[in-house]
Amino acid sequence: MKIILGVGGGIAAYKSAELARLLMQQGHQVTAVMTDAAQRFVTPVTFAALTGRKVLTDLFAIESAIDHIGTAQENDLLVVAPATADLLARLAHGLAGDFLSTLYLAFTGPVLLAPSMNVNMWQHAATRANVEILERRGHRVIEPGVGYLACGMTGAGRMAEPEEIAAAVDREARAGRDLEGETVLITAGPTEEPLDPVRYISNRSSGKMGYALAEAAAARGAHVVLISGPVHLSPPHGVEVIQVRTAAEMRTRVFENLEPAGIVIKAAAVADFHLSHVPDQKRKKTAARLSLELDPTPDILAEVGRQKGDRLLVGFAAETENLRQEARRKLESKNCDMVVGNLVGGTETGFESDENEVVLVLSTGDTVEIARASKREIADRIFDEILKLRLSLHSAHEA
Ligand code: CTP
Repeated sequence: MKIILGVGGGIAAYKSAELARLLMQQGHQVTAVMTDAAQRFVTPVTFAALTGRKVLTDLFAIESAIDHIGTAQENDLLVVAPATADLLARLAHGLAGDFLSTLYLAFTGPVLLAPSMNVNMWQHAATRANVEILERRGHRVIEPGVGYLACGMTGAGRMAEPEEIAAAVDREARAGRDLEGETVLITAGPTEEPLDPVRYISNRSSGKMGYALAEAAAARGAHVVLISGPVHLSPPHGVEVIQVRTAAEMRTRVFENLEPAGIVIKAAAVADFHLSHVPDQKRKKTAARLSLELDPTPDILAEVGRQKGDRLLVGFAAETENLRQEARRKLESKNCDMVVGNLVGGTETGFESDENEVVLVLSTGDTVEIARASKREIADRIFDEILKLRLSLHSAHEA
């Protein structure tokens, strides 16, 4: 594949040299484009030596007057690493004052962005808004890691490791659209079970894993229906989102949309209990103890499992202990093909985190461990395993 590596002006530019080397090793043709600021950190000679190609830097150089258009047309993928706060802002708003931002506007292929900046800059409302614009445009933002930053602070903002970026690029290049023509049904987020018109029971699910799965499936060409409980996330680009509140509503929507789905993934943290008769008026506080009698909610996953047909069914098991045993128990009791087990309760992975670390328990008896990575990266690994599992189930069926 022909790849443009856009290098922004951040200290992580030195890591992009390693990224260039990894992409070359994967067999891609790499053309580096550097901003003026990037050249203050690393010289173009480094990238020219690693890629064996001229490095593009100057929009107004006589010999490259229309190079940005030609380069945009000749290449298949654009990866920007490091994407600084300034660069994200310029790309989000379509400013075209230098070679890289002009080329970006002329480029029509997939775009991956690997942000890198100080934690406060990363969390600033302006940067959040720019990232949201870029994600909505369908670009893939490879989440920065949490750790020690060059500025001396600790937090989110450190550019993802070159290996992770190269893996994301390689997947985009190789797998491409391997879910084309498929309908994938995904549930995500918590449910809210009302206790009266103003109170409810819920859980700490952020919906991030389910949204990452929806984004990954859409990027791989699937028609994605995402049935989402209440979350604070923007709808992924190109995904049909259906908002629900309670477990009962989620169940109705799942069965309404089940028919065309070949892959069903239940990432939602559905409340297990609800109040069957919700009072019309707010409960008033009294000195007396309050007891509530709750009824179990319908187990949507188990119900889909009972009428699974040819579908590939994936459940989730969020556990605080005995992860593998619990995941396998759920796989068997709910007739799933795969259960994604993840430990929750810590701060580094699990519900609210941008990262996760999971173990996949498969109906073939195998288990696959996926080491800690961003939820988006984990989502792609889960789809890789889903496709492999489907192949092996088909060939076992035919034998
Ligand atoms: N699930 C569901 N409907 C429910 C409850 C759970 O579809 N009413 C699905 C979830 O989306 C998830 C899986 O089932 O894919 C989780 O299994 P579950 O046994 O409900 O997990 P826990 O609630 O954690 O169960 P336990 O208390 O037994 O650990």
